Amino acid sequence: MGSQHAPLNDLLAQHRPGYALRQPFYTSPEIFDADLEAIFYRDWLFAFPACMLEKSGSYQRLKIGAYDVVVLRDSKGEIRAFHNSCRHRGSIICSAAQGRVAKLTCPYHQWTYDLDGRLLWARDMGADFDPAQHGLKPVHCRVAAGLVYICLAAEAPDFDSFAETVTPYLGVHDLSNAKVAHQSTIIEKGNWKLVWENNRECYHCAGNHPDLCRTYPEDPTITGVSADGTFPEKVEAHFSRLEGAGAPSRFRMDEGGQFRVARMPLLDGAQSYTVSGKIAVQKRLGQVPFLDAGTLLLFHYPTTWNHFLTDHSITFRVTPIGPQETEVQTTWLVNKDALEGEDYDLEDLTRVWRHTNDEDRRVVEDNQQGINSPVYEPGPYSKMHEDGVLQFVDWYLTRMRAAQSPQTLAAE
Ligand code: FES
Ligand SMILES: [Fe+2]
Repeated sequence: MGSQHAPLNDLLAQHRPGYALRQPFYTSPEIFDADLEAIFYRDWLFAFPACMLEKSGSYQRLKIGAYDVVVLRDSKGEIRAFHNSCRHRGSIICSAAQGRVAKLTCPYHQWTYDLDGRLLWARDMGADFDPAQHGLKPVHCRVAAGLVYICLAAEAPDFDSFAETVTPYLGVHDLSNAKVAHQSTIIEKGNWKLVWENNRECYHCAGNHPDLCRTYPEDPTITGVSADGTFPEKVEAHFSRLEGAGAPSRFRMDEGGQFRVARMPLLDGAQSYTVSGKIAVQKRLGQVPFLDAGTLLLFHYPTTWNHFLTDHSITFRVTPIGPQETEVQTTWLVNKDALEGEDYDLEDLTRVWRHTNDEDRRVVEDNQQGINSPVYEPGPYSKMHEDGVLQFVDWYLTRMRAAQSPQTLAAE
């Protein structure tokens, strides 16, 4: 296992449509690096909900592959991102995962930067030293409806079409009035694509997610991608009812397949992801017009899927750590005025997805272990239940092929 495999170009050419990827895509350090280069270092990446940066000077640190990034709120309230690498001799500046600072001071020789990245102070650097040439290197950073995204590329791809598409859907969820009720960070010992493949189907739900299946339908017309653009009558009726009440809901898929948004009904009129099916938070986040409005599903490859509910919202962030290791961070958002113990019970609020995440971790790790066997050979996806996985794999392969032959992309 490892580096003894055919070149990436050959593996891409040999892919059998409708089938899982070949072993090296899930195991090879070289392909892991190629994934980072082609996808994670080029695309917009979900960072976290903007409400996590409560005040000016609040920051969160992110690591993506070789990059170390600080995302902060500046003194004007703007959210900005910088490479966490001092312009003197390169030390990291923020060593904590999060915190709050008045200025960014490097711990090595105390070069001090403003929250907008300008170098304010550097001791004894001589008369010809120009601080203006030594500001922190910026990272592209945008906020769409309360969700912070960054992009590590020198030139970022378009963000506007995503922001313009999802902002109306998120309006009724009012993430500007959210606070974090709980956050969990888990490591899944599996390749990041296995985490996604597992997320993009509910073929595994009945056998693995007893809590989730009380409220979340296994029905592939709800969890899938609707390859032909049609939905059963009851789902169409659900869209119409919600849209008529001012909550954009109809399924929208990005042309390039990178993101999808749709408000889908839960099982039997359930209101939220709780054991009882009732809302978990009495002081609701947002103004969704009906308690049984379902869940607004949003995914954006390669880093996030989300559930925006009637009473609370849950964001998920996927970060590749190594060829067989992926971090999944889950954040439960509630109304900033909701009080724990009064408006919600933390156990009731978080139970279903804490359990579901752990169950997903187990199936992803089992999947990885089985793929590591020399006898593994890619099997076929179910057209009925795994069209979402097919869609993800298509998106991935398209990106990887384009990155292997940039001239083809330029010619398109
Ligand atoms: S490396 Fe940051 S001040 Fe010297
Ligand atoms: Fe799952």
